[in-house]
Amino acid sequence: MVVRIMNIIHPSMTLLSFLSLFFFLLIPSLMSAQTCQRTCGKQILKFPFGSDPGCGDPRFQQYVSCNQQRLILTTHTGSYPVSTIDYTNQVIYISDPSMSTCSCTQPSKGFGLDWNAPFTFHDDTIFALLDCSTASSPIYTANGLNTDGNGSKALLCANEGTPICSYLYSCRPISTINLPISTCCIYAPMDLGPSFEMDLKKLQCTSYTGFYSFNGQEANPENWSYGIALKYKFSVNNDYPISCSQCERSYGVCGYTGAYNSFICNCPNGLNMSTDCFFTAAYNNGLRLFLPWKNGAGLIYFLAWSILWVLL
Ligand SMILES: *[C@@H]1O[C@H](CO)[C@@H](O)[C@H](O)[C@H]1NC(C)=O
Ligand SMILES: *[C@@H]1O[C@H](CO)[C@@H](O)[C@H](O)[C@H]1NC(C)=O
Ligand SMILES: *[C@@H]1O[C@H](CO)[C@@H](O)[C@H](O)[C@H]1NC(C)=O
Repeated sequence: MVVRIMNIIHPSMTLLSFLSLFFFLLIPSLMSAQTCQRTCGKQILKFPFGSDPGCGDPRFQQYVSCNQQRLILTTHTGSYPVSTIDYTNQVIYISDPSMSTCSCTQPSKGFGLDWNAPFTFHDDTIFALLDCSTASSPIYTANGLNTDGNGSKALLCANEGTPICSYLYSCRPISTINLPISTCCIYAPMDLGPSFEMDLKKLQCTSYTGFYSFNGQEANPENWSYGIALKYKFSVNNDYPISCSQCERSYGVCGYTGAYNSFICNCPNGLNMSTDCFFTAAYNNGLRLFLPWKNGAGLIYFLAWSILWVLL
């Protein structure tokens, strides 16, 4: 039997990896705690995001954290629940509890990204400023930020050719705002640069709404996806670290530690390795084999390790 296994999977390192993977899929209860979590609530955590200090990319640590199984994005304007992460397209979707939607209007201070945060607004994100003071908001006045000199609505608002404001005003709570529809200002952050800041106090607006998809029903604002879509980059060159994909394949979590921020692969058995978890899983479980003989798992280990000893 041993000979047959060797014929199928020849290099013994591959067999070792295979067996170690098999081990910790089979008996996860024997593992000690893994510092870096692979999930936060229902959200799967992968590089560059991490659950704890030392996990994920250090550039992201101060902005995204797992708090009581809820993934939260923090900026200088507040804390925002992460709704979902699209790892393929590198987009993180957040919600702002202070934001107005088709089902409610409420006051908000606005939203801003920290100037040095590793995020930018996704092109799909559209904001609408609501309830702005016609008397004092700089989006209407001639001495405002970007007015056209005629005292009319500023270039800041990209309303031309979009029926978005009329759709929003078809929502009952928004229609009760005591201001005409012409005061609704569409604000597209991608035109305004990465350090875009929507300071509603400065803009003299009471509330705003934001969304990133019409969900194929542009005329049905009830069904739009409200929230904010942000793009992220792994590094200046946006390269996914090769060492990290190898680590994640072995059920590890990538992190950085120490004064020099050296790469670590935090493994399911709690150990930190410099590469991946394939070897450490086999090694660690092998040591445990001789300690608790209480359950049948020990016997499986014993048999598996006997095969390994024969091979090596
Ligand atoms: C492994 O790394 C994590 C994250 O950097 C750290 O919190 C933990 O203490 C380390 N564990 C060990 C056993 O060194
Ligand atoms: C101001 O309004 C006039 C007439 O409505 C228009 O011709 C002109 O282009 C406007 N000025 C600016 C700077 O847009
Ligand atoms: C919103 O979408 C749901 C499911 O697709 C649909 O049943 C509902 O009619 C839509 N709402 C409106 C106002 O069309």
